[in-house]
Amino acid sequence: MTAILILNGPNLNLLGTRQPDVYGHTTLADIEAMCRNKAKALGIELGFGQSNHEGALVDEIHGARGRFDGIILNAGAYTHTSVALRDAISSVDVPMIELHLSNVHAREEFRHKSFISAVAVGVICGFGARGYALALEAMLGHLESSG
Ligand code: DQA
Repeated sequence: MTAILILNGPNLNLLGTRQPDVYGHTTLADIEAMCRNKAKALGIELGFGQSNHEGALVDEIHGARGRFDGIILNAGAYTHTSVALRDAISSVDVPMIELHLSNVHAREEFRHKSFISAVAVGVICGFGARGYALALEAMLGHLESSG
């Protein structure tokens, strides 16, 4: 069975109350439940995690090797700062989709730069919580066509 890991970075634990005008009212627990339903429908085994710590995210990415077929990564603000996350993705042979709830390109200029896009299969942003379901479908399609 295909296994996909969804990893969430800093401050995403506060979804629902964090800047709802930008990120909506959906909580991370709501998103996890939605992803678990979607994964069940698609026949995917799902891992789901969140950390506010860069090194913990690096560890999760390393741990995905041999356990998960793909990673969906909403790295939050580390997207725009982290060479370590980019190197972690480059160091494991696991395809990654970069995900953002908001359209980062329509926001402040510092969000236009991503350190991880260059090592991603593709990027999904601007579709809110629905982006997670889109990313699961996109990863499954990518794995089917590349495997
Ligand atoms: C985000 C966008 C980032 O710029 C921001 O730092 C986040 C959330 C998003 O999902 O839209 O924390 O990754």
